[in-house]
Amino acid sequence: MTEKHIKLGLFGFGCVGQGLYDILNHSQGLKADIEKICVKDHAKKRKIDAKYFTYDKEDILNRKDLDVIVELIDNSQDAYEIVSRALNNGVSVVTANKKMLAENFEALYQLQEKNNVALIYEGSAGGSIPIIRNLEEYYDNELLSSIRGLLNGSCNYILTRMELENMDYGKALGMAQECGFAESDPWLDVAGYDTMYKLILLTVHSFGIILKPEQVLTLGIQNISFDDITYAKEKGLRIKLIATAHKVGDKFRVYALPHFVNKESDLYNVLYENNGVEVEGAYSCKQTFVGKGAGSHPTGSAVLSDISALTYHYKYGYKKLKKLRQQHKGNFDSGKLLDVDFDIKVYIRFADKNDLKGIEIVAVEEEFKSAKTNYIVATVKFNSLFDLKGKQDSKLFVCVV
Ligand code: HSE
Repeated sequence: MTEKHIKLGLFGFGCVGQGLYDILNHSQGLKADIEKICVKDHAKKRKIDAKYFTYDKEDILNRKDLDVIVELIDNSQDAYEIVSRALNNGVSVVTANKKMLAENFEALYQLQEKNNVALIYEGSAGGSIPIIRNLEEYYDNELLSSIRGLLNGSCNYILTRMELENMDYGKALGMAQECGFAESDPWLDVAGYDTMYKLILLTVHSFGIILKPEQVLTLGIQNISFDDITYAKEKGLRIKLIATAHKVGDKFRVYALPHFVNKESDLYNVLYENNGVEVEGAYSCKQTFVGKGAGSHPTGSAVLSDISALTYHYKYGYKKLKKLRQQHKGNFDSGKLLDVDFDIKVYIRFADKNDLKGIEIVAVEEEFKSAKTNYIVATVKFNSLFDLKGKQDSKLFVCVV
């Protein structure tokens, strides 16, 4: 693919698609042309010539002259169909669709192996931060012990606006939507799902294990109030939604939960829509990557970098994954490597004590009751928090201490 102009078929022309289009137009190095863009909405006004657009995916999938398919649509099921068809046709794919990837990782990995074709997705986690290729290549032989990151720009933006500007949660979320940071369904952001999908991708490239979304404990910031922010502030802490995967013995603890972070943490000063990822290895020690985690141009730039990588035939080697599977001789179940049986210290704010039902409390360290708010700081069984995952009617705010 070197020297010649590469031909792209693009699915989706939303926030990231338009960002990619702008960047491609200004790119000095990469010679790539968007041949066709498949979109859904006939009525929407587009800022570029109508000749680029089609409403029929077959107009792209059936073309034999395209070098790369770039998938940037919203619907993860449609995206999976497009990506798997392209891979089966032997065409390389770039995507930023973390939900689609996390929900179908094993199948997509098998398709890449079977067809010997590349599927790369730097824009799917950490926005502009080049984290996936670094985990895959740079930390190839390094014994990583943990990764920990702020992976959702919208949540970090909301938390920052609430803390530093006393902005109301609803207003901050509305602004995150206006800026193009939030998902079309912002529940995926605030309930922690987007963070969890990204964590699943980083866990594959850090440790070689493919987890399923239902295996990863995920709680969000949707119930946060100024009482929680004040509690944190008084102790010199900040609240951040953190994704973590760390090794304990030969098992992994993997979860996406709000955390209190102190000033010594590199993540404390990662504000607004920025993301941050701390990678810790036995020899490299701790390294932190920080950059814009959401938005049209930052994410578009990661997609562009992937397209560029395909010009020198880059594909993920999945070396850690292959090594682990070899060690387990085909008898491999990532879930068995997960540790969910441990105690964790959390702050829980609640309105009614009945709401705590189901959470196995080991020891209460602090308890506060008032007419306005109640909270406890307690050690609880990690496993028992799974009942709260995705529960739309829960009013609890849970934060790791
Ligand atoms: N909704 C995502 C975020 C977009 O806020 O981080 C970038 O993946």
